[in-house]
Amino acid sequence: MRLIVFDNQKDIANFGADMIAEVINNNPCAVLGLATGSTPVPMYAELVRRYEAGELDFSTVRSVNLDEYYPLAPDNDQSYRYFMNHQLFDHINIDKNNTNVPDGLAADPAAACAAYEEIIRDLGGIDIQVLGIGGNGHIGFNEPAEALDPLTHLTDLTEDTIRANARFFESEADVPRHALTMGIGTILSARRILLIATGEAKAKAIATVLSGKLTTSCPASLLNLHSDVTILCDRAAVSLCDPSLLATL
Ligand code: GLP
Repeated sequence: MRLIVFDNQKDIANFGADMIAEVINNNPCAVLGLATGSTPVPMYAELVRRYEAGELDFSTVRSVNLDEYYPLAPDNDQSYRYFMNHQLFDHINIDKNNTNVPDGLAADPAAACAAYEEIIRDLGGIDIQVLGIGGNGHIGFNEPAEALDPLTHLTDLTEDTIRANARFFESEADVPRHALTMGIGTILSARRILLIATGEAKAKAIATVLSGKLTTSCPASLLNLHSDVTILCDRAAVSLCDPSLLATL
């Protein structure tokens, strides 16, 4: 696990964009695993800037997103499909037919989840998976639980997550109670993982991840099973980490 601590968001966005650019430059048909939430927004803005400057070409890039609220229509302005279109896809030359987000209106969610796994397999797997992290240690919508699902599945959101995500909705009552999310195994099957965490609200979860131990009460800790994980943090996000542990990373 590689941890890099930055003084500001701009440097995080640049470093993350460098990693994604490297993947695309090595393989113009790369498969990007993308995340929503406020954390990756500056990095997406930097990718848009590079596209506009003629430095990056997304014309043959493919993408799969981590998760989607359920039930929620793709054109709802709180859906993750809407988020991706507005933050990234509408501003670069990616072919939207090559972008995948779980279907928040799937009539048969179990079948839609199985089909999503097949899409990822048919694409040849994910070259780099971008992740944010919930304050409770969730990744995608893999919430803390006694047991975790390996593959894409329909899940219940925890009260913590509903409360945390209510800021984007008109009221807490409007937050969908379920989501479709890649499983921990889906995420771990990506060739590289890029986790971004900023702010004090993520400090406890990041301290657990960096402790190196595995616990389903912090799903992100399972990233310790992967051999190519880069974590980009600001100082606030590492404020609860054991300084002696930090020195060894
Ligand atoms: C949501 C998403 C996660 C994201 C998390 C953190 O619950 N499903 O993928 O990492 O929020 O969001 P933020 O970056 O806004 O703190």
